[in-house]
Amino acid sequence: MPLDSLESTLVHEMSDLLSAETQFARALQQVAKAADSEPVKQMAQEHHAETLQQIETLKQAFSVVGQKPERVTCKAAQGLVEENSSTLKEEKPKGAFKDIALVGGCLRVEHYEIAGYTAAIAVARALGQREVVQLLTQILKQEQATAKKLEAAAPPLLQAAKGNESISAQPASKSGGAKKSGAAAKTGGAKSAAKGGAKKATK
Ligand SMILES: [Fe+2]
Ligand SMILES: [Fe+2]
Repeated sequence: MPLDSLESTLVHEMSDLLSAETQFARALQQVAKAADSEPVKQMAQEHHAETLQQIETLKQAFSVVGQKPERVTCKAAQGLVEENSSTLKEEKPKGAFKDIALVGGCLRVEHYEIAGYTAAIAVARALGQREVVQLLTQILKQEQATAKKLEAAAPPLLQAAKGNESISAQPASKSGGAKKSGAAAKTGGAKSAAKGGAKKATK
């Protein structure tokens, strides 16, 4: 469909988002499997269920405008998913380091979605498609909430990673490293982070 009207632009934006969501739904299942820590695993499972709902909400938006989704592949989504899975395959991070990579990858995905829905909502609003604006805003809010949860998941993982780092980097830890690990041990920061944030952080 040529992009020569606001309606065709909206249909194209939503088709791209539908393709992206379908790819992200599969990727979130893989994140849930790969994650070591319970909070990250749970977050991926919950957002996977939410993403399946988002696919239905998008289909609903198509029926509101009386159009069918275009058969397009969102190449940006493909790239994000590929980059995230190749980081795991090639770098093979373990424990907290793996979950830090997973959380960072998921955060990139959420921000991509936030940008996509923000753009599509602006087009729907210009078209006066109030119901579509409402449906897409519902999804946008879920993506924003997920991004916030991911940001909150990072600090305990980073603490656990710091603990691991001081064990594996002993020769260089005389000045800064030893001090840091001592402080972490004193406050129990690394320990409690490993407990709550990354189950197998010491693996
Ligand atoms: Fe989504
Ligand atoms: Fe999302």
